[in-house]
Amino acid sequence: MRQMRLDPSTPGLLSAFELGDEGLQHIIADLSENQLSNFHLPFCVAPNFLVNGNISVFPLVTEESSVVAALAKAAGFWAQRGGFHAEVTGMEKKGQLHFTWKGSPEKLHRFFPEIQKILLEEVSPLTRNMESRGGGILKLELKHLPDILDHYYQIDAGFSTCNAMGANFINSCLEQFGKSLRLFFASRMDWPPEEQDCSILMAILSNYTPDSKVRVWVDCPVEDLTGDLSAHELAEKFVMAVHIARHDVSRAVTHNKGIFNGIDALALATGNDFRAIEAGAHAFAARSGKYRSLSDAKISGDHFVFSMEIPLAAGVVGGVTGIHPLAKLAMQILGNPTAAELMQYMAVAGLASNWSAVRALVTTGIQKGHMKMHLSNILNGFQATDEQKQAVRAYFQDREVSYAEVEHYLKNYAGH
Ligand code: MEV
Repeated sequence: MRQMRLDPSTPGLLSAFELGDEGLQHIIADLSENQLSNFHLPFCVAPNFLVNGNISVFPLVTEESSVVAALAKAAGFWAQRGGFHAEVTGMEKKGQLHFTWKGSPEKLHRFFPEIQKILLEEVSPLTRNMESRGGGILKLELKHLPDILDHYYQIDAGFSTCNAMGANFINSCLEQFGKSLRLFFASRMDWPPEEQDCSILMAILSNYTPDSKVRVWVDCPVEDLTGDLSAHELAEKFVMAVHIARHDVSRAVTHNKGIFNGIDALALATGNDFRAIEAGAHAFAARSGKYRSLSDAKISGDHFVFSMEIPLAAGVVGGVTGIHPLAKLAMQILGNPTAAELMQYMAVAGLASNWSAVRALVTTGIQKGHMKMHLSNILNGFQATDEQKQAVRAYFQDREVSYAEVEHYLKNYAGH
């Protein structure tokens, strides 16, 4: 079993912080425009993630107080029950060239092998580097979609972008396809004039990545689900809660939000595009025509299984990951994973936060833990002094936290 230790004296581990303020400020400012200030969020870690037999520490960036605690709790619980299992079942990304052309669809399909050859030849200066790393263009497919728009076609392209998220690579290739396609039609002097041109509408990657997916699961004998309820009651209630989220859209959205509490926190920490990941996974959750829970749970014989299949496109090179000093630090904490490994970690973070949320919901309720973690925010909202904070924390050690109760205690007993 590989052990990952977070030892601050590890050479290079904290080098992210060794940048002078000015150097750091340039990097942050260049990420965007019209910068007023930096926007700070806590950079945290959740230890003890046993994933495919190896222990990892997850770096997490989130504003929600209870997320890190939820992940850490799930990690510790499952580390004692075989850990998380994850496998990448595909890494193909997609992009589309959208265009209209006035000729017959049969003719275009007939010429498509020739067009495809030209597109691939002319894009090769852009794909050479990616090919030398084992990636490139995997397939090109012509689609005629007259139900969407008259004369409307797509060239649907599959890409392998290796360890990169690959958005720039994909978009550059697609834009080149657009130029090559126009030149192809323009060179058909013997075709009717209306067939010698096409209108390129858009060339853009798709964040729907159903062929770039991770399967993740935990399982154990039902009797090992020890905790706040009897093991069997917990297993049954948990499975019922997930079943509801698979069939009721209002519950499914919140259930999946709990999954993204974990995924987004890890995506943010590693400089990955969490909006892209969310958009793709929510579309996947609705692939049956009905929006459902991304995770599933069952009791099979005397075994409990909690699993999820989720499309994910993550990168570990290029983009912000290699530039932002804290994203670099996050990658170091994770042991500099490949894109496939990072995809697995994201899926694990999602299943872990989902486990903790649903478990809390069917046992103690969510507010107990939430409000305990939120106490610091309430105290900061009241601008409580260190002394008052200490008194309030001691008082609420064994009591239920609520905004009103904290306010009452501060006013009456803690000298606010
Ligand atoms: C809160 O951030 C997330 C939950 O609402 C998720 C869920 O309901 O499953 C607790």
